Amino acid sequence: MTLDLKQHLAKHGENIGTVLEDILSARLLPGETARPERLLAAMRHGALNGGKRLRPILVLEAARLFGRTDDGVVKAACALELIHCYSLVHDDLPAMDDDDLRRGQPTVHKAYDEAAAILAGDALLTLAFDVITGEAVHSDAGVRLALSRELARAAGVGGMAGGQMLDLDSEHRDRTEAEIRELQSMKTGALLRYACRAGARLADASDADIDRLTRFGEVIGLAFQLADDLLDVEASPEAMGKATGKDAEAGKATLVGLWGVEKTRAELVRLQAEAELLLAPYGTRADTLSALAAFIVNRTS
Ligand code: IPE
Ligand code: IPE
Ligand code: MG
Ligand code: MG
Ligand code: MG
Repeated sequence: MTLDLKQHLAKHGENIGTVLEDILSARLLPGETARPERLLAAMRHGALNGGKRLRPILVLEAARLFGRTDDGVVKAACALELIHCYSLVHDDLPAMDDDDLRRGQPTVHKAYDEAAAILAGDALLTLAFDVITGEAVHSDAGVRLALSRELARAAGVGGMAGGQMLDLDSEHRDRTEAEIRELQSMKTGALLRYACRAGARLADASDADIDRLTRFGEVIGLAFQLADDLLDVEASPEAMGKATGKDAEAGKATLVGLWGVEKTRAELVRLQAEAELLLAPYGTRADTLSALAAFIVNRTS
């Protein structure tokens, strides 16, 4: 990772952490009766325990590309991260991937219990929609509505949750390349696509630019899951902060399983080139986004 990107990630990560900390504080919002301590603690464990913060950082960078950098963008970025964190809390449950370690710490159902983890996921998901509809996100309520609806679709039955269903259904069942691509574009791709698309939209980019960033999000979304599956084969639990070697054991349908390591690496190189091409019209303004794409392809954690 270049020094520049490292500094960018650290600065954005800190900013996102501070806003998430505030969103997940004990302070009640109008209409709330109480924030039960155990549930709030489980939510905080699932959301404030590190993580690369890639999705929110993509929102911030996509918005910055078109000139918007204020706190409203950070709020929208945090809404997306809340959904990502919820998806991980549920993904780790015994009924799903049954994992004990996440981001180098016990998973939420290990630190608390399964009921708390289920409810923490539910509450993180709903809180995300509270946050994305906030006035600071965009001055135009129509844009806020569109961003909220798109977030619902990226996260729901036709997006991430649907992809998780296909992922679980694929255990010990052969899948074609097209089926695996579809599964991955839903379970992982949908939120990364949303990150880039929403960033552009938050900054009132033109339809052509929003489309371009959407495509960029799709390309890095696939690259992200390919890298995750590759790391499941090749990396250590210490480096990843989560168990590895589990996909093959669980019989998960992955492109690495279908193609092997070499072909997957070649596909990652191809996807990085495609991402670069999509950013080319923006010249050096897109340097950070392009460094992020490279990081996603070459990441080691
Ligand atoms: C892990 O996502 C889950 C997948 C979608 C493969 P990340 O690798 O972005 O997880 P954190 O947020 O950095 O822990
Ligand atoms: C998780 O994919 C995707 C979502 C949570 C939506 P994985 O099951 O591969 O993620 P890890 O490897 O547990 O982080
Ligand atoms: Mg999973
Ligand atoms: Mg998992
Ligand atoms: Mg994985």
